[in-house]
Amino acid sequence: MNPVDYLRISLIDRCNFRCQYCMPDSQALKFLGLSEVLTASELLALIGEVFIPSGFTRFRLTGGEPLLRPDVLQIVEGLVAFPQVKDLAMTTNAFLLANMAQALYEAGLRRINISLDSLVPETFTIITGRDVQGRQRWQQVWAGIQKAYDVGFNPLKLNVVIIPGINDHEVLDLAALTLDRHWHVRFIEFMPIGNADLFGDRGWIPSQDLRDQICDHWGLQSGQVQGNGPADVFQIPGAKGTLGFISQMSECFCDRCNRMRLSADGWLRPCLLNETGQLDLKTPLRARVPTSLLCEQVQDLLELKPEINYKDRQSGTMGASYTRTMSQIGG
Ligand code: GTP
Ligand code: 5AD
Ligand code: SF4
Repeated sequence: MNPVDYLRISLIDRCNFRCQYCMPDSQALKFLGLSEVLTASELLALIGEVFIPSGFTRFRLTGGEPLLRPDVLQIVEGLVAFPQVKDLAMTTNAFLLANMAQALYEAGLRRINISLDSLVPETFTIITGRDVQGRQRWQQVWAGIQKAYDVGFNPLKLNVVIIPGINDHEVLDLAALTLDRHWHVRFIEFMPIGNADLFGDRGWIPSQDLRDQICDHWGLQSGQVQGNGPADVFQIPGAKGTLGFISQMSECFCDRCNRMRLSADGWLRPCLLNETGQLDLKTPLRARVPTSLLCEQVQDLLELKPEINYKDRQSGTMGASYTRTMSQIGG
């Protein structure tokens, strides 16, 4: 059993995109009020007094879109100041990244994962919703990726959710990005969470099919890249970057799950797909309950976690009835 030492922290539930698979425009979402969101100092207190003492050493900032959080630099600085933090990363849509990459790097962030579902600006607009800025949206994200690379973020990963009939014909083009760049492209199987209707219409494609396609074209060998997530890593022979496959639909990786999630309003969730055991940390923190008591509760949850993983999988919670979006839980 893996030690659970990786915390995915959602900084905000809002997003400037409306990805069809996550928070489609058509869906009425209820966002958190400002006072419901953990402040930077509350978050850093939880990390320093609860999560680090409970054995967490690897952290990822997610959202919604974490760069929408005005105090994101302060949070990064606060986290890297803890000597126990072995790894700090961020997952972003990169829309605001071009102007922030340098400051994020200077604040101490060293690695970033960016969603890039298409190389075609029109398709990108269709997938990421909200028909504003058209072509320019893709260009701005692309500029963010380039800037992050130039500034020195390493490894730089690009996340692609493959949606049949929408971007599956771009697999080779996206994989080709790794040939002469030190970029790491990961293909993610579309999950029936966030937008069950789209999932019902489109379904998902097993990672093995994508690997076969890539292998027929260039060959494929196993690869390696720094990471804490569930990706299986491969590489086109001779390529500078790697290819990752996140296969939560075709393969159960719950038994190697090493993470928990903290939502923007301070709920600790032991499993992405399961609300069992979730723990409200904000209310007791604000009520000045000693953090040693919160540590005990987190310890109890850590002990319970393997059961929660398996129970979830067996009861098939990954069904179309799952309505919570990744933006609410923290990617
Ligand atoms: P690395 O540390 O770079 O390996 O990052 P990561 O893969 O953990 O982070 P990222 O935010 O890039 O995650 C990519 C995608 O993997 C997520 O958006 C999810 O689709 C999927 N994913 C990550 N963790 C889980 C999990 O616990 N369960 C499931 N089902 N999917 C997950
Ligand atoms: N299926 C698979 N991945 C998803 N993400 C969001 N919704 C889904 C879904 N339904 C992932 C994408 C995105 C990250 C923030 O969350 O990888 O990059
Ligand atoms: Fe925003 Fe990411 Fe969800 Fe897209 S997937 S709507 S970028 S949180």
